[in-house]
Amino acid sequence: MFAASHVSGTKPEQYAQLLAQARALLAGESDRIANAANLSSLVYHALPRLNWVGFYFFDGTELVVGPFQGLPACVRIPLDKGVCGAAARTRRTQRIADVHAFEGHIACDSASRSELVVPLHADEALVGVFDLDSPEPDRFDADDQAGLEAIAECFMQACARQPRAEESMA
Ligand code: SME
Repeated sequence: MFAASHVSGTKPEQYAQLLAQARALLAGESDRIANAANLSSLVYHALPRLNWVGFYFFDGTELVVGPFQGLPACVRIPLDKGVCGAAARTRRTQRIADVHAFEGHIACDSASRSELVVPLHADEALVGVFDLDSPEPDRFDADDQAGLEAIAECFMQACARQPRAEESMA
């Protein structure tokens, strides 16, 4: 059974502890859906003041919703739409203090006020995005961005890991 450990200290220290928990949770597993599901749950329960945490994956044309925690969300997002589309298109993290001021924001949950979207890509190849919503305006600062980008990188590294030879022969 997994029990999320308490995190303490400064915000960067808390994110370092959360990253260590994420690494432990994903250790030895490369399945993208399994890792996205567990990581969404870990982050949603570890961080305060969030109403949605999850993944969208690129299907070659648009973003399609993957594992998440929160209310049901829009299934498909074209790359020219929304905060998620902007992160995917530009390969740059989008940290939006006020989603109502972002032209083209897609309101999946009307409670959302601020949003952070980290693009997931292997070199230049788009894999998807890691998306977090908050009901609090300006919820995400530079420490949140750095911490969540490191967690997204941990996800990408876990999913890129090749199964060991004895596992692939089983
Ligand atoms: N708000 C996002 C859509 C996804 S939901 O927040 C889960 C956007 O504008 O792309």
